[in-house]
Amino acid sequence: MAITYLPEKQLFRLDTKTSTYAFTVYKEGYLVHLYYGAKVPDTDLSYLMFRGWFDELSPRNPKVGERFFSTDIAPLEYSTNGAGDMRISALSVRGGAGDSVTDLRYVSHKITKGKPKLPGLPATYDDGSQAETLEVETVDAVTGVKAYLLYTVFEDYGVMTRSARIENGGSAPVTLERAYSACLDLPTMDRDMVHVYGRWAKENTTVRHPLQHGIQCVQSKRGMTGPNHNPFLALVDQDATEERGEAIGVNLVYSGNFALDVEVDTRGCPRLLAGINPTDFRWKLEPGESFTSPEAVLVYSQEGLGGMSRTFHHFYLDHLCPPQWAKKKRPLLINSWEAAFFDFDGDKLVAFAKEAKELGIEMLVMDDGWFGDRHDDFRALGDWTVNEEKLGGTLSQLVQRVNDLGLSFGIWYEPEMINPDSDLYRAHPDWAICAPGREKSLSRNQCVLDMTRKDVRDCIFQQMYDVISQANIAYIKWDCNRHISEAGSALLPPDRQGEFFHRYVLGVYDLMDRITKAFPHILLENCSSGGGRFDAGMLYYSPQIWASDCTDPIERLSIQFGASLCYPISSLGAHVSANPRTGLATKGRVALCGTFGYELDPRKLTEEERELVRGQVADYHKYYDLLHYGDFYRLTSPTEDPYLCRWQFVSPDKKEVLFTQVIMRQPPAVCQFQKLPGLDPDAWYRDEATGAVYSGALLMHAGLNLSAENEFVYGDGASLSIHLVAQDR
Ligand code: GLA
Repeated sequence: MAITYLPEKQLFRLDTKTSTYAFTVYKEGYLVHLYYGAKVPDTDLSYLMFRGWFDELSPRNPKVGERFFSTDIAPLEYSTNGAGDMRISALSVRGGAGDSVTDLRYVSHKITKGKPKLPGLPATYDDGSQAETLEVETVDAVTGVKAYLLYTVFEDYGVMTRSARIENGGSAPVTLERAYSACLDLPTMDRDMVHVYGRWAKENTTVRHPLQHGIQCVQSKRGMTGPNHNPFLALVDQDATEERGEAIGVNLVYSGNFALDVEVDTRGCPRLLAGINPTDFRWKLEPGESFTSPEAVLVYSQEGLGGMSRTFHHFYLDHLCPPQWAKKKRPLLINSWEAAFFDFDGDKLVAFAKEAKELGIEMLVMDDGWFGDRHDDFRALGDWTVNEEKLGGTLSQLVQRVNDLGLSFGIWYEPEMINPDSDLYRAHPDWAICAPGREKSLSRNQCVLDMTRKDVRDCIFQQMYDVISQANIAYIKWDCNRHISEAGSALLPPDRQGEFFHRYVLGVYDLMDRITKAFPHILLENCSSGGGRFDAGMLYYSPQIWASDCTDPIERLSIQFGASLCYPISSLGAHVSANPRTGLATKGRVALCGTFGYELDPRKLTEEERELVRGQVADYHKYYDLLHYGDFYRLTSPTEDPYLCRWQFVSPDKKEVLFTQVIMRQPPAVCQFQKLPGLDPDAWYRDEATGAVYSGALLMHAGLNLSAENEFVYGDGASLSIHLVAQDR
């Protein structure tokens, strides 16, 4: 049993193979958090709620009658606003009387097998065999508002998910002003916060800093996740490393305005909140209506950041990514964007396909520029009809020509966008997002379609359906190249405009759901000016996401490493491009630490480069399972080590290892050893290239000796890979 309730203590325990999470129903029905950490035996945990005597300034419920209990100080399971807790709150409801006092108390609970779906939202799933779910019902006695706190435990993974369903059980309308998915009160602030930040073409720079008193947060109010911050953060022991120490990772399965807030109160106790960003969020609930928050995924690891990441990776492949793709081999593709930008026609694409076929590439993706009057980025978004003149025939004919060469065919879309210079805009100017009376800003010459509207979604769905169903399309790249400003919908009444941003995300999910259900065989790859919407919500629909518009392999190291903190390597869209920095071999090695593919004009490759590409294609197949389903280890960090970036993959049975090193700058010390964690200490590993055999224990504790390799390496961007295979001694 992963979830247990001990009635005599009114205690809930949620156990995974590595962790215990516990909370209790305290006097007067307060839900008090007790513990989240390494697995502990069944014992009395109640002493953990004591956090010092309350001081005179902290409000106290006289009915509780305990000197140490104040909602201002106690660790609370789902903190609420205005009822004595002055810290950041997970829930704030403005009731019919106009105040926003929110005071939840325990009513009941139930424990069930499996995991319920979250209506309209992507979420991790279970077939009923692994997960257990606890639903705790709480109520605010004055407004009648109920909060159902949902906890699902995936025992075998060390993972727990949380969300909250808020229901208006009263008789007057209420407005949600904050409705976070998870709240986690921790006892001490001796932890570092790890997260990623970035911008266009420079996503996912990892940062780590000690927690400070006050509030620190990562968030988006861009309408989309954005490249600026990611809905992921980890709280780790201050001495935690990649392989050792405690790490708690939190990730939201959400693609819109998010917030991950950590407040360290004056007693030094951190509170973590994860959920929808309350800025620009209001949600009206009529009596009987309910609202479900997106899901927060919590991973607990005692094996440092690396252990946390590997748990996220395996868990997302098994329980989040589309099951028909998660474990299916994906086609090796070549994309037309960096090869041709808008300058292509049908013959050029067929010429790409012909060359690509000879190199062993399996799919051609036709990027932006195939529809309407789209010959630059100033026009035609919204007009999803095939430009047959440009393609030199129908789409079906072009796809057939490519299929005849032995390649499958993929196509680019940007369904949420509209250019003012488009037939769609001329017919429906009110379909572009704009608050009443405001002028619309442009970004990349485009506006965002009002995806809160069903008529808009229906129109885009129909346009997409008509094109996709007329040809043998195997893949869609779903792009999203601007964020939302002047937010508002022509259809929402003033008292519901605060719902706009969340309704937008729900609309996008609805459209993605319809497209992926209508064409379940199609592989969807997300993209948002590169990795601008790299989140777990998108991973639910598309098992891979283009990680960055920057294809420079040195820059890609920190971009891909940052993303790997939380997202599987098999989800990191990475291509070899014609980018001038480093040679082809290094580009290939870096792209293999991702989905792998090409984004260049294959006709321009020299014979020597073609040979290299053939070798890379062979490596892609040879290492596919190891890279996609193996364990990933970040050995040195490109944001901390100025010289070297090293990583390795280890197969689940520990019989195979692929180690890679990229030299970013010549290291001053030539004596170079690299310990390889995660191996089998009792195994013997043969270096496939040299035939040398090493003890697993020695590789783990003394390391690979790279001194010779690195002695004569000059030139930034040199790289090497070492493939080790376990053998009998
Ligand atoms: C975005 C994407 C690119 C490409 C272009 C097309 O920038 O990130 O990969 O698809 O749009 O306009």
